[in-house]
Amino acid sequence: MMADLSAVTSRRVTVLGSTGSIGVSTLDVIAHARETYGADAFPIEVLTAQSNVELLAEQARRFRPRMAVIGDAARGGALKQMLAGTGIESAAGREAVIEAAARPSDVVMVAIVGAASLAPALAAVRRGATIALANKECIVAAGDLFRRAVAESGATLIPVDSEHNAAFQLLNFDEAHAIERVTLTASGGPFRDWPSERMAVATPEQAVAHPNWSMGAKISVDSATLMNKGLELIEAHFLFSLEPDRLAVLVHPQSIVHCLVSYADGSTLAHLSAPDMRTPIAHALAWPRRMSSPSRRLDLAMLNKLTFEVPDPERFPCLNLAQTCLRQGGLAPTILNAANEVAVQAFLGRRIGFLDIARVVEDTLSARTANSTAIPRDVDGILDADRQARDLADTICRRMAA
Ligand SMILES: NC(=O)c1ccc[n+]([C@@H]2O[C@H](COP(=O)([O-])OP(=O)(O)OC[C@H]3O[C@@H](n4cnc5c(N)ncnc54)[C@H](OP(=O)(O)O)[C@@H]3O)[C@@H](O)[C@H]2O)c1
Repeated sequence: MMADLSAVTSRRVTVLGSTGSIGVSTLDVIAHARETYGADAFPIEVLTAQSNVELLAEQARRFRPRMAVIGDAARGGALKQMLAGTGIESAAGREAVIEAAARPSDVVMVAIVGAASLAPALAAVRRGATIALANKECIVAAGDLFRRAVAESGATLIPVDSEHNAAFQLLNFDEAHAIERVTLTASGGPFRDWPSERMAVATPEQAVAHPNWSMGAKISVDSATLMNKGLELIEAHFLFSLEPDRLAVLVHPQSIVHCLVSYADGSTLAHLSAPDMRTPIAHALAWPRRMSSPSRRLDLAMLNKLTFEVPDPERFPCLNLAQTCLRQGGLAPTILNAANEVAVQAFLGRRIGFLDIARVVEDTLSARTANSTAIPRDVDGILDADRQARDLADTICRRMAA
């Protein structure tokens, strides 16, 4: 007998960043829900993209949102033309993406990459929506502010990042005093076994070829440097109010166990699933209920072992840099995130080497330690620090490339 999930499937959804890896997976989960529960499941309010106008228009024609928004204002005309006669509204530009997030919908999937998601995510938070948060950079860059905004508006935050979604399912907040440790697992990325000399000449193609997950270019590079896990420690700190010494990382190359929560009575609970983002996405869309998803299923009989190891701080210095920033607090995570975004883009553009990413972040942080412990009160303070750190990191990249 099929459960009555009408209260779940009637939720109106906005997808910010629908053309990216998470956005496409979200629409895949919604398509599956429409096949399973009825064609009107998860009506869509808005779909947004930055520049991929063709895919956005194709998604809009298939999923019938009320509105489609392209961030790159120059492509607004093309979008309008592609949607002519469909009855779907269109808009373009950065402000239009922020306004889209503020339109009434029940769930907003925040799947824009980088700190560019901060303003739209906050717009959705401020109207008290349920936020399915895939993006981690916005909470790393503006953790305190983001947390305050959620508390003030009464918004509901459901983590989509697989480790945090797993933690969300495992954590018993009524017994918060008994949570001894939350361990996030890392696959170790494509260079887990590589010596430093080989990593020094790694190409962007090698760095984005993740062994287990299919993801956007930026997060794939972050996984290769282990900065992704560092960002996730900071994300976990802000999402779950956990002190840095209750957060740990283990390398788990199979990416089956996503998070382990250890309690004071000696119990350790683990969350397992196949490495498929459609599982946490379906969980976030249906929470607190459970619904069917098209994700790959776990077959433990096929896997003959699950292994765990401690990350190597020598070859993966980004993890330590992030842990230091987590302990420092204030603007340190904002600067870390901004410098990393610039360094990753420079690496993807072949302007710096793979190992230079950590150097750019470290040099940017060293140059900014004087005022990095201040706690910003508003978005402008965050954006200002973010901009300054980007300029500095860019200058460091140029010096390295010269
Ligand atoms: N992929 C994963 O498996 C995964 C897992 C956990 C967490 N996450 C997090 O989820 C977020 C998205 O990751 P992803 O891998 O899906 O990234 P992605 O494939 O690069 O997609 C990014 C999306 O954001 C849009 N976008 C890019 N720059 C923008 C801007 N300045 N303003 C507005 N929209 C912009 C892109 O539009 P265009 O396509 O038009 O460029 C695209 O729709 C990241 O924060 C990542 O860390 C991802």
